[in-house]
Formats: sequence, structure tokens, C-alpha cells
Amino acid sequence: MAPILNVGIVGTGIFARDMHLPCYKSFPDEFKVVAATNRTKSKALAFAKIAGIPEDKVYDDLDEILNDKNVDYIDAMLPAQFNLPTVQKAIAAKKPIILEKPIAANLDQARELVKIAESTDVPVGIAENWLFLEVIDVAKKHLERIGPIVAFIHNSTGPFISHNKYLTTSWRQHPKHIGGFLSDGGVHQLGLVISLVGEFASVSALTKQVRPQSGTDDIVFSTVRVKDSDVIGNFTYGSAFGATEKSVFLKIFGKSGTILIDLSNKAKPVVKVRTGETQETASDEEVYPVETDGTNGVKAEFLNFHEAVAKKDKTLVRGTPRKTFHHLACVAAFLESSSKNGDSVKVQEP
Ligand SMILES: NC(=O)c1ccc[n+]([C@@H]2O[C@H](COP(=O)([O-])OP(=O)(O)OC[C@H]3O[C@@H](n4cnc5c(N)ncnc54)[C@H](OP(=O)(O)O)[C@@H]3O)[C@@H](O)[C@H]2O)c1
Repeated sequence: MAPILNVGIVGTGIFARDMHLPCYKSFPDEFKVVAATNRTKSKALAFAKIAGIPEDKVYDDLDEILNDKNVDYIDAMLPAQFNLPTVQKAIAAKKPIILEKPIAANLDQARELVKIAESTDVPVGIAENWLFLEVIDVAKKHLERIGPIVAFIHNSTGPFISHNKYLTTSWRQHPKHIGGFLSDGGVHQLGLVISLVGEFASVSALTKQVRPQSGTDDIVFSTVRVKDSDVIGNFTYGSAFGATEKSVFLKIFGKSGTILIDLSNKAKPVVKVRTGETQETASDEEVYPVETDGTNGVKAEFLNFHEAVAKKDKTLVRGTPRKTFHHLACVAAFLESSSKNGDSVKVQEP
């Protein structure tokens, strides 16, 4: 996987410290975190200490870190409304960049981001790490066995957790990005579903806000039509309910069988397959426990971006702006449909 790529961190918040930094450190032959910048410099300095970044590589702003010739690429972890201006500057400086999800704060910004990313050879990735979940590859191996897909149900529901470390961030409580938590976590769920059943053409949805802390609507119940096919489905998402067991599953119904991907226990996901056209001919259930590295795809996502940057080949990036635009566009469609009392709404194109 050589060479070692030097990473510059933009935004040294919770996820930078608790997930990205440990993941980079676990690949010493591939990555070295060499520089950082953050709006509040004291936090960047504290981050630098644990990352082993010298103080003179803690920069005052984005321009300075982009000017550092030793930085091979930028890893930006900012509220989504800052993604577009950050990408614009990175591309102008010819620095590859991977940005946290959602792609942008709204579809206008996201569209512009797709446009500029597609007009350059500089690799640009959106860090939707669920695109790299191990369960996707396992489920894909069995998809053909259940015949043409007919329908699906995706359910990701859980109890409100008042001590969630992410909930306390003020930009989440007063979101400038559409959908607040619905796009924050929802794009991950959509990434999983769409990787297996295809992009959504239209949705009919109702959304609503259960918790004041969410800042905006935080649950969605929807019906979906899949693009270029006759597949239909349900997409339900929310973690703002009262006490309930966390339940995360995608069930894909085929003409000759069913696949169930159960992520309710994130540490022990499982794929279950049953084949047969009828109850009388149904096979016994096959159960495939899936090994995970506990990072929800972040490590695999980093290795993918490493390859694209090292080979100077942006076509290798799997979390493309175009792909992740669609996930935000689905959230936008849920919200628009709900504002029209559940009318069917087309999912916008980039
Ligand atoms: N992929 C995932 O599963 C996952 C999980 C969690 C988070 N994330 C993503 O990671 C990113 C950071 O989230 P987080 O949970 O780490 O939140 P966080 O701790 O609040 O970090 C946010 C970062 O953005 C900076 N920031 C906030 N407002 C700013 C502004 N007006 N101007 C410039 N910088 C500003 C903050 O700087 P200050 O220190 O000065 O406030 C901080 O560095 C987000 O994009 C989030 O969606 C992804």
C-alpha cells in the first residue's frame, strides 16, 4: 500500500480525535498525520499533542495548511455548510481532500460541489463510511440467489440517548444543513440501502420532530420507488424515540428468497438468507455472522482514499460526490414530500 501519505486535518473535533486519528495511527505504513488546523486553535494544539504533530504544524487557517507542501491530502471534519468552500480552496491548491458527510448543507451547495469535483483530476471523497460496511459485500454475494428484487424494508429505529456526545455539539442542535439528524446519520443508512437495492427515483414521506434537542425533524417514515426498476420499499429512520430496543435491519425480498441484514448489534452484524419461491420450497435459514473491524467502514474508506491519492486516480474514490449527492437528495425529497402531506416527490439529480 506504500507510500506513506501525509495527512492534514481540518477540524479537530470529536470525530477527528475519537475515530479518524486512531484509524490513521493503526496504519503507520500508509498514513502520517502531520498537520492540523481548527477554528479554536487551543483544540488543535491539544489534538496535535495526542497526534504527535509539532506545534509549528498547527496552522491558523485553511489557507496555511493548504500551502504546506508536505501535506499530501486534507481530511476535513466540519459542519456540512463548510464543505463547499473548503473543497473549492483545496481544488484551487490542487490538494486531494476527503470531507465528512453529508456532502453539503443543501442541494444547491451539493450540486456545486459535484460540479467542481468532476471538473478536476484532484481526488475528492465524501467520507460516508457506511459505504464500506463489511455486511454489504457479504449480502451482495447472495443477492442473485434470491432472484429479482421485489421490495425492501429498511428500519433503523432507536431510543433517544440524552448523553450522546455528538448531540451536545451546538451545530447539530442548530443545524444549518437540511434535515439535521436525518441527513447527519440518515445518509449512512441510505448509503447501505442504496448500495444493495439501487438509487431511489421518488419517495412519499412523513417526517417530524420528536426532540427539541434535534433542532429540526428527526424521524422519517417513507415509501420509496427504486430508479429504473419496479422495486418498491420502506425507509424508516429515527433515534429520537422513547425507550425501545435499537433495531437496525434491511430486509430485501426477492422473487425466490429473502436477505436480512441485521445491524442491531453493531459489533456483531449478521446476514441471513432464505431461498425458495414459496413457503413449501423454502430452504432452512442460512446465517452468516459478519466480522467487523469496529470502525463502521472508516478504515476501509481510508485505504480506498489512500489508493486514489497514491495512484493520482480519482476514479478509484468510492465515496464520490455524485454518489453521496443522491443520499442528501433523498433526505431533501423526504422533507419536501412531508411538507406536501406525503405526496410523491422525485429525488433530484445532481
Ligand atoms: N462518519 C461518521 O460516522 C461521523 C460521525 C461523527 C461525526 N462525523 C462528521 O465529522 C464532522 C465533525 O463532527 P464532530 O462530531 O467531530 O463535531 P465537533 O466536535 O463539533 O467538530 C466540529 C468541528 O468543526 C469546527 N467548526 C464548527 N463550527 C465552525 C465554524 N463556524 N467555522 C469553522 N469551524 C467550525 C469545530 O471547531 P471548534 O473546535 O472551534 O468548535 C470543530 O473542529 C462533521 O462533519 C460530522 O458530520 C461523521
